[in-house]
Amino acid sequence: MGAVIAGWLTLGRAAAAAQNTSLTTVPVNATGLTPDLGRYPFSLPALPYAADALEPALDAQTMALHHSKHHAAYVANLNKALESAPAFQHLEVTELIMRLSEVPANVQEAVRNSAGGHHNHSLFWTGLTPKSLNRVPEPGGLLGAQLRGQFGSLDAFRQALSAAALGRFGSGWAWLVLERTGRLRVMTTPNQDSPLAAGVYPLLGLDVWEHAYYLHYQNRRADYVQAFWTVVNWPEVERRYALALRLAAG
Ligand SMILES: [Fe+2]
Repeated sequence: MGAVIAGWLTLGRAAAAAQNTSLTTVPVNATGLTPDLGRYPFSLPALPYAADALEPALDAQTMALHHSKHHAAYVANLNKALESAPAFQHLEVTELIMRLSEVPANVQEAVRNSAGGHHNHSLFWTGLTPKSLNRVPEPGGLLGAQLRGQFGSLDAFRQALSAAALGRFGSGWAWLVLERTGRLRVMTTPNQDSPLAAGVYPLLGLDVWEHAYYLHYQNRRADYVQAFWTVVNWPEVERRYALALRLAAG
């Protein structure tokens, strides 16, 4: 209950901030899609499970490097970029993503990549759960019903997101997102771009940078994508969906 209240307090602050800008494409109270990531100086959130907890789908060495080196680098680079932009140090990560055009030009690209990388990876870790604890291998509730309705079946949805992940050239992400119309959609983003910047709410993200899988899967991205489905944290994705529906309606 405390976490729920804290989450809505965060939404309230962000919603107030949203009224001060006309440049956001999505209400900045999308912050509730991830745990509270705080403000500058940002710090690396702990993994919500041990590095080996997602074996065999995601091996421990890859997870440890991905989190402690790659994600950590996005956090460090975001702090470094904001050192010279003090007027933006009070913003949350989602606000930085959605107000990017206001950020000084000399650090705008760095903020784009590092704020996106910080938010994307925070969504990624919390969107996964150890297979041994995963008693919900398929989305249920309203999300399950809507995925079936909009894609035809859960298999068809998985195939659509998998195809998007395999078709993403180079580095980037495949996503299940909610449009502000209430429609679910599969999309991809290049590099560390966030779906928030495209005006949609990210519900589930799949990192298809080679750093996410190459140590274990080498060039077999398809095997990595297939394994990903065994460790999706569907209750968390359903929580994000319920929140995003309220934000989209709001
Ligand atoms: Fe990554």
